[in-house]
Amino acid sequence: MEGVVDRCPTGIVGFDRLCQGGFVRNSDNLIVGGPGSGKTTFLLQFLWNGVTKFEENGLYCSFEPDIVEVLNDAMSYGWDFTKLSSEGKIHFLRFSPKTSVSDLKKEFTSLISKFNIRRICFDPVSVLALNLEEQGKIRETMFELTSLLKRLKVTTVSADETIEYESFHPVEGEWTKTDILRFLSDSVTLLYESASSKFGDRAIRIVKMRRTAHERRAVGMRITSSGVEVWTPSS
Ligand SMILES: Nc1ncnc2c1ncn2[C@@H]1O[C@H](COP(=O)(O)OP(=O)(O)OP(=O)(O)O)[C@@H](O)[C@H]1O
Ligand SMILES: [Mg+2]
Repeated sequence: MEGVVDRCPTGIVGFDRLCQGGFVRNSDNLIVGGPGSGKTTFLLQFLWNGVTKFEENGLYCSFEPDIVEVLNDAMSYGWDFTKLSSEGKIHFLRFSPKTSVSDLKKEFTSLISKFNIRRICFDPVSVLALNLEEQGKIRETMFELTSLLKRLKVTTVSADETIEYESFHPVEGEWTKTDILRFLSDSVTLLYESASSKFGDRAIRIVKMRRTAHERRAVGMRITSSGVEVWTPSS
C-alpha cells in the first residue's frame, strides 16, 4: 500500500512511521486529548515542519484572543513563527463562536489561493460548533467546511478537547457536542497526558485513519524543548 496514497507528513518522525508516512493528503484529521496533553504543540509542530521541511505554507486558526500567546508557546520550542509570518509562509486567523462558517469559507478561499496554503489547523475545533445546537447542524456545517478545504487541496489538523482520555486508562465520560466529529473526520489520534513507558510519560494512539494500515496500539510520547517526540524503534 505504501506509495499508493499521497501523504502529508507531519515531520514528527515517530508519528509518521505509525501511519505509512503521515496524514492522507487533503484529508481532515482530529487530535483529541485532555488539558495539557500536547494538542497545540502537535498542531504548531505540524505547521512549523510544513514550512521548514516540506515547503508547505500554513494557516493556524485559533480561538486565543491574543495571538502573541500562541507565538510565545511556539517560541518555547524554538519555533519562530514571527519570521515565517513576515515571509508570508504562515498566517494566523482568530475565530470566535460568532464567526459564521460562511464568512470563514470566504476568508479561507481567498487566503488559500493568495498564499498557497496547504495546511490548516483549528485550535480548538469545538469553537466552530459552540453556537450550533443540534447534532444535525454541526454535522452539516462541518461537512461543508471540510469539503471546501479538501477541494482546495488542504490538509486539516484540528484539536478537539476531551477529558475522557486524560490518562492511558480511559474513564467513562459523557459524549460532548463535538464527539460527532470523530465519526466525520478521516483520522482520529488520541493524546494521553499520563502514561508510562521507557520512552516517555505520555502516549499517543491512532484510533482511525482512513486508507491507512496504521499502528493501533498506544505508543510512548514525550514533550521536550524540541516539541512532540514519538517513540521509534531506534529511540
Ligand atoms: N518548552 C517546553 N518544553 C517541554 N515541555 C513543554 C514545553 N512547553 C510546554 N510543555 C509541556 O506541554 C504541555 C502543554 O502542551 P499543549 O499546550 O500543547 O497542550 P494542550 O493539549 O494544547 O493543552 P490545552 O488543553 O490547555 O490547550 C505543558 O503542560 C507542558 O507539560
Ligand atoms: Mg491547547
